[in-house]
Amino acid sequence: MIDRESPVPIYYQIEEYIKQLIETEALNPGDAIPSEREFTEQFKVSRMTVRQAITNLVNEGYLFRQKGKGTYVSKQKIEQTLQGLTGFTEDMKKRGMKPDSKILDFKLIPADLKVAKQLYINEHDPIYEIKRIRLADDLPMALEMSYLPANLIKGLTEEIVNSSLYEYIEDNLQLKIDYATQEIESSLSHEDEAKLLDIPKNVPILLIQRQTFLDNGQPFELVKSKYRGDRYKFVIDMKRR
Ligand code: GLP
Repeated sequence: MIDRESPVPIYYQIEEYIKQLIETEALNPGDAIPSEREFTEQFKVSRMTVRQAITNLVNEGYLFRQKGKGTYVSKQKIEQTLQGLTGFTEDMKKRGMKPDSKILDFKLIPADLKVAKQLYINEHDPIYEIKRIRLADDLPMALEMSYLPANLIKGLTEEIVNSSLYEYIEDNLQLKIDYATQEIESSLSHEDEAKLLDIPKNVPILLIQRQTFLDNGQPFELVKSKYRGDRYKFVIDMKRR
């Protein structure tokens, strides 16, 4: 399995081997992986090399260590493609997962100047401010703060935002969601966010900001989402020229 002639470093080959065990479900979330000593004997490599491979997989979120016990397979991350404009509910349904929301805040407030500008409305025009925890199969995945102009996205209720905003906008209001601009950056979980997302504080999370438009060019939402870094990765296919 290990190709010593290959220019690919041996620790990397071991990483790929372990990843394959996870992908083929020979190892499942929660399973202990073989010990460093076992790998050392299996591959006839130094313990350092094995440790390097395992540490890399821990850092990438494939494995986690438990002090004094061993190293285990993590729940694998949700792969979210960056192509196409989709909503949380449809994304989770497509994966066969159960989407859910917990509403932390739902109010009608006057827009401040900054938000008003981004939504192409006047300062003090009414907007909905919605804060939700988004869950998949009952596990918190993201915290989401949305602003929507109330004169455009009419009749929102807590019940609606408890399920899908995008479904309501398209199916009930018959508006056409068209495109969005989105920024992704890294951040650290603050104490209150950590509690809500059920993660430790000060661990990496993904901060995603989206401004979404209808087909007439009118923005209808500003969203600031904080996704769990241990449960999400974003994927995009790229082609040269
Ligand atoms: C994702 C996006 C949000 C969007 C939401 C709509 O979570 N990051 O910008 O508002 O989907 O999802 P739903 O239709 O489930 O309310």
